[in-house]
Amino acid sequence: MYKLYKIHLITLTIIFGFFSCKPNKEMKNSSLHKEIEQKVDSVLGLMHIDEKIGQMVQYSAGWDLTGPPSSKNAQDKVAQIKKGLVGSILNVVSVKEVREAQKLVMENSRLKIPMIFAYDVIHGLKTMFPTPLGESASWDLELIEKTASIAAKEAAASGLNWTFAPMIDVSRDARWGRIMEGAGEDPYLNALIGVARIQGFQGDDLSDESTIAACAKHFAGYGFAEAGREYSTVNVGEFELHNTILPPFKAAANAGVATFMNSFNDIDGIPATGHKELQRAILKEDWNWNGFIVSDWGSIGEMAAHGFAKDKKHAAEIALNAGSDMDMESFSYERNLKTLLEENKVSLAHIDAAVKRILRVKFQLGLFDNPYKYCDEEREKNNIYTKEHLAIARDAARKSIVLLKNENAILPVSKSVKSIAVIGPFADNKDSPLGNWRAKATYNSAVSLLEGVKAKVGKNTKVYYEKGIELTVPTVKAGENQFMFPLQMNTEDRSGISKAVAIAKKAEIVFLAIGEDAYQSGEGRSQTKIGFAGLQSELLEAVYKVNKNIVLVLSNGRPMDISRANDILPGILVTWQLGSASGNGIADVLFGDYNPSGKLPVSFPRNVGQEPLYYNQKNTGRPFNNKHVTYAGYTDSKKSALYPFGFGLSYTHFSYDHLKVDKETMSSEDKITVSVDVKNTGNVAGEEVVQLYIRDLVASVIRPVKELKGFQKLLIKAGHKKTVSFVIDKEVLQFYTINKKWEVETGEFHLFVGGSSATEIKQKISVE
Ligand code: BGC
Repeated sequence: MYKLYKIHLITLTIIFGFFSCKPNKEMKNSSLHKEIEQKVDSVLGLMHIDEKIGQMVQYSAGWDLTGPPSSKNAQDKVAQIKKGLVGSILNVVSVKEVREAQKLVMENSRLKIPMIFAYDVIHGLKTMFPTPLGESASWDLELIEKTASIAAKEAAASGLNWTFAPMIDVSRDARWGRIMEGAGEDPYLNALIGVARIQGFQGDDLSDESTIAACAKHFAGYGFAEAGREYSTVNVGEFELHNTILPPFKAAANAGVATFMNSFNDIDGIPATGHKELQRAILKEDWNWNGFIVSDWGSIGEMAAHGFAKDKKHAAEIALNAGSDMDMESFSYERNLKTLLEENKVSLAHIDAAVKRILRVKFQLGLFDNPYKYCDEEREKNNIYTKEHLAIARDAARKSIVLLKNENAILPVSKSVKSIAVIGPFADNKDSPLGNWRAKATYNSAVSLLEGVKAKVGKNTKVYYEKGIELTVPTVKAGENQFMFPLQMNTEDRSGISKAVAIAKKAEIVFLAIGEDAYQSGEGRSQTKIGFAGLQSELLEAVYKVNKNIVLVLSNGRPMDISRANDILPGILVTWQLGSASGNGIADVLFGDYNPSGKLPVSFPRNVGQEPLYYNQKNTGRPFNNKHVTYAGYTDSKKSALYPFGFGLSYTHFSYDHLKVDKETMSSEDKITVSVDVKNTGNVAGEEVVQLYIRDLVASVIRPVKELKGFQKLLIKAGHKKTVSFVIDKEVLQFYTINKKWEVETGEFHLFVGGSSATEIKQKISVE
């Protein structure tokens, strides 16, 4: 036995040593790629069936795993790991913990195949950046790539090598709690931002010690949960699936994302986890993608609850046959795949293919060269929560802010203003800005708005502060259990409102910090109400009675119903949950050290009844027009958004002129260049996101009234003008047609250019 073990050890050393190389995502067709394939095959050739199935198993483990196991469950997990029967661990973080866990397999198992360590590093590890939806409002791909690369660097310095991000589910329903985790309502924006995040996490070289594997999730349709109800069924037709939901995933696959995660929901009666067409036919075959698919947490086993599988055994059979490669925490694979193989219900070919995909990523990460390469205490000490990272967090915070309203130029505020009242449950809140998926952020570590404001003004400015109300009832001690389910809203204690009113009376201007807590959005936090919870509206009205000079500083994970505030307040800033440097970033905008440049990645509704609400709708046979509102939508509300996708103000103004095309007709293989002059007509420099939308007027499958197809974010000096151009080609004009192919159809198209999805500045072209 010992001998056999030694022989394997030598064989493995030869194989791994011989093919010591640094793969990257460009390698698909290169000789290095071939070498990795050979290595993968060689390792596979050494594996017993139990070891193969083991690679397809992912456990979640906390401290228990590496300390003395305290529960039976943890002991069982340790025993399996020691036998080499676990391919991956999630939720073990820190060099010490990861090393201990990796040692279990490296020092005990027969083949010593390193485990891959995963964690939800969604918007930072310890240095928190804005929530993904918030950061998407920056429309700044370079910045987004940068923050993802810092998140990767901190994660990799903590022993990790795989994140479950980015989420690229197109999400159009503000009730859905997880809308905060993606890039909003548009497929094109989700695709570009998703790719920027993947590039940030993975860099050019997955084997670099400061990069980690990314995961495109959730494949597919999760963002279309019916009525925004968490985990709910998804009913989309084939064309909507291909034209709206899948494009960001296709872009992720093309960008070389190492892994995909499937999703909890069913699509038209087929759970995504058991969806053969999605996983095998589309992702693995049509798109020719060679990474591996991990299930969502327990989603293989959950197919039984869906009523799609009889039990976990049946679920394992369905999932593997459908193309799910790794089972996250449902134990369906480890307990059943071997029997299923013996019963001929699954094939060895499918198991081998799944294992190869998993091994390939492990080779690409360089884990076979050094299983402890992410376990370096020095790097952990020096690379996390650094000054440089916090400076980028501040930049990301201010660039993600969206100015929705600025009547009478209430903003920016002069730093020599005599007095400011900072009021509200989010005014001195150092925790909520850290967001919902906050990984290893320290409780209460964000810069609060109050701190940001105080740091900005001089001694002669009086800064008053009152919380006014408690938003939530503390059911657990702060920081002890961040996942309070559900949050209890405080509707009793009005004692602070009069104090808030007293300072509002004395102040020249009020910054009213209300909105929603970080734990009101995120997974499992769908809501039927999206207005101001608790006593916040009472606070707003009371303060407004005594001081009209109010800027609403909105804290939000999702688009909220801010209609009443919008009716009465002169200034509104959308500040999401902006991360570690939140208050400084907001103060930069409030006092004009940064001219706001964010644009909404999701429409803000007038009320919850409009949801799901998105700009890229299809026309009905009785289209919306301002004269016949009731025909087009509701009798008690306008159909349009309060603030549409792509909208956001600046402290300056931009004019759009001379939209022109270099020719008016093209063939489907040809190109047209459209250009426009954008002029900064105000007194300060500012950034504008110039947006290109198209409409395909008549098509074999109805196309949306507008579709984002390009954008450029430009800094333009006061009084200056820039000419911006976009190329219109096949990529821009094609869609998934009635022929079930991506094609350009002949006919007329409108091209719109402007500073939001509401732009009516247009040109016509036709494809012949
Ligand atoms: C979520 C995933 C997440 C996973 C692991 C699931 O509940 O849906 O997005 O990556 O848990 O934490």
